Amino acid sequence: MKILVVYYSRYGHVLQLAHSVLEGVKSVAGVEAVLRRVQEFEDIERDIPKHEHALAVWNRQKEIPVCTLNDLKEADGIIFGTPTRYGNMTAQMKRLFDSTVELWLQGAFEGKPAGVFTSTASTHGGQETTCFTMMAPLLHLGMIIVGVPYSTPGMLHYEGRGGTPYGASTVAGVKNELQPVPEDLAIAQALGRRVAQVTKKLRG
Ligand SMILES: Cc1cc2nc3c(=O)[nH]c(=O)nc-3n(C[C@H](O)[C@H](O)[C@H](O)COP(=O)(O)O)c2cc1C
Repeated sequence: MKILVVYYSRYGHVLQLAHSVLEGVKSVAGVEAVLRRVQEFEDIERDIPKHEHALAVWNRQKEIPVCTLNDLKEADGIIFGTPTRYGNMTAQMKRLFDSTVELWLQGAFEGKPAGVFTSTASTHGGQETTCFTMMAPLLHLGMIIVGVPYSTPGMLHYEGRGGTPYGASTVAGVKNELQPVPEDLAIAQALGRRVAQVTKKLRG
């Protein structure tokens, strides 16, 4: 039983959430957790050395294998993470979605559980819209959406941090200067665990 965590991250926030989601997946017995990053655009990859922070983050993730169509096909459940771009997923993540037409024709995603996670600069910068709009292609692909229930510790809150019923999240700050707080990471772990548990029940 394989659960794939596939993410895109430029400044490291979604990468941190991805590691917590992965820990949550690994906490479920009999499940193999696989981490993949989304392919970067060539022009952005060329520019990375010009930005100190982006370069440091790149060095932390460049050895993580790029997600292939085979990774998507082989997974029993998939958790997708992307920063918010104007209330939506990044173009890099969208390119991955848009490359799946052959798998869609084969029905390769149908019945597989899916979860989502994201990061925004500001508290109301679109965490929910990114999670929600990312779910549309997942439903087209026939995936079964798994969210984060309010019984999860830290979910019912009033602070300027992440944690939505639609998916795990964090607030990165306008200059990407903030870090995910422990509650964000715990909720990301809970999402990973829940997708793994649901996948095991449905496909074990
Ligand atoms: C083109 C662009 C659009 C963005 N749009 C939003 C937005 O709608 N709302 C928001 O809060 N942050 C927005 N951001 C900030 C990113 O979401 C933020 O840098 C990201 O969440 C950090 O995640 P990362 O560290 O994993 O790269 C935008 C950034 C860029 C470059």
